[in-house]
Amino acid sequence: MSNYSTMEKTALKAEYDSLKASFEAYKAQGLKLNMARGKPGSEQLNISNDMLTVLTADTDYSSPDCPDCRNYGNLTGLESAQKLFADILGVEPKNVFVGGNSSLNMMFDTIACMMELGCSGEKPWREQGKIKFLCPAPGYDRHFGVTGYFGIEMITVPMTENGPDMDMVEKLVSEDASIKGIWCVPKYSNPQGITYSDETVKRFASLKPAAKDFRIMWDNAYIIHDINDTPDQLLNIFDEVKKTGNEDIVFEFCSTSKITFPGAGVAALAASENNLAILKKRYNFQTIGYDKMNMLRHVKYFGDLNGVLAHMQKHRAVLEPRFNMVLDMLEKELKDCGVATWTKPNGGYFVSVDVTEGCAKRVVALCKEAGVVLTGAGATYPYGNDPKDSNIRIAPTYPPVEELAKAMEIFCICAKMAAIEKLI
Ligand SMILES: Cc1ncc(COP(=O)(O)O)c(C=O)c1O
Repeated sequence: MSNYSTMEKTALKAEYDSLKASFEAYKAQGLKLNMARGKPGSEQLNISNDMLTVLTADTDYSSPDCPDCRNYGNLTGLESAQKLFADILGVEPKNVFVGGNSSLNMMFDTIACMMELGCSGEKPWREQGKIKFLCPAPGYDRHFGVTGYFGIEMITVPMTENGPDMDMVEKLVSEDASIKGIWCVPKYSNPQGITYSDETVKRFASLKPAAKDFRIMWDNAYIIHDINDTPDQLLNIFDEVKKTGNEDIVFEFCSTSKITFPGAGVAALAASENNLAILKKRYNFQTIGYDKMNMLRHVKYFGDLNGVLAHMQKHRAVLEPRFNMVLDMLEKELKDCGVATWTKPNGGYFVSVDVTEGCAKRVVALCKEAGVVLTGAGATYPYGNDPKDSNIRIAPTYPPVEELAKAMEIFCICAKMAAIEKLI
C-alpha cells in the first residue's frame, strides 16, 4: 500500500470503494463492540478474586493501631495500609492518607478543600476571582470534568514525548498568579502512555509559581502498571521536591482500581505535612474514617510491595498480547498509507492514535455506524476541543480478544476512509 498523499485521485477512489465495501459488510453484521472503556476485562478481575475470601468470621480484626478494624476510626487509614501505599509511592507512611474506593474522588475532594480553605496562607481559591488550571493534553477527560465542575478555567498545554511542554508550564505559572494548579499523569499518561522524563520531573519540582498556593495534581494512576519487559522509570517527585525545598507544591494520588477491583479498591494520596493538615481540616468533618475492612483485605492479600508487584505480573500477562495486537494491526494497516501516528506505551491502559487532521470526529462517527464505540473525539482535550480534531483514545483492555481484533479492523478501515474523504 502506498502513502495516500502520493496516490492519484482515481487510485484513491478505487481504494475508497474497496474500503467502503468492507465497511458495509461489517455494518451488516450489526456488531456491538466497545473500545471506549479504560477498564479491566473480566479475566483481569478474576486475578484478584482470592482477595474476597481473605477476611472471614474468624479473622483477627485488630491491628496495632486499631483494636477492631470493623469499627469506626483511623481517619488517615490503617497504618499497615499507609505503609503499603508508602512503599508503592516511595514516600514515608506519615505522608500517606488512605481513603475510600477512588483516587478521582480524592482529587475532587482536594480541589474542593483548596476552594473552601485555601493553602499556603492564601485566601481560599473560590475567594480569588477567576482561577485557572493547566491541562496537559491529550489528557484524562475526568480531570477536565472536575476542573470544569468547579468553574476553573482550563488552559491547554501540549504534551511532548517527555511530558507536558515545560517551557510553557514554567512561563505561564511564573507570570500568572491566577493559575493555581496543573493535572499530571506522570507515568503511562492517559491516553498516550508517556512517562515524564527525569528532566521534566526535576523542572516540576523546581517550579517557582507566581501563586504561592499553586499545586501539582500528580495522578500516578499507572505507577506500577507495566505491560512488557522494557518498563519506563519515573523519577520520584517527592525525592525531588525535598531537594528543592518545594514539598508543599505536590499532591500525589494512586489507587488499586487497576490492581484489584475498580470502584471496589483502595485509594491513597501522599502529601507534605502542611498539605495533609489542610486536608484533615475538611476530612475531619467529611467522614469518621474510610473502609478499613477493604484496607485490611488488601494488606492481608498482598503482604507487601513485592506481593503487589507479583500480582501486577499477572495483569501484564493478560494485557501485553492485547496491546501487541492493537499495535501490530495499526502497523500493518495504517503505517504505509500514512493516515495515522500512534504511541507505543510500555504500560498503562491506552494507545493514543492521531488520525489525519480534521478526521477524528469522522472516524469516531464511522466506527459508530459500523458498531464500534470509541471514546468521543475531543474528549482528551479541555472543553472537548481537540484543535486538530485528530486524537482518538483506544482502550484495548476491556473487550474479549476476538472482539478487540474485529473492532481494530473496523477502526483501521474507518481511519483510512476518513483520510481519503479528506483528500478527494
Ligand atoms: C489517569 C487516571 N486517574 C484516575 C483514574 C480513576 O481512578 P480511581 O478509580 O482510583 O478513581 C483513572 C481511570 O481510568 C485514570 O485513567
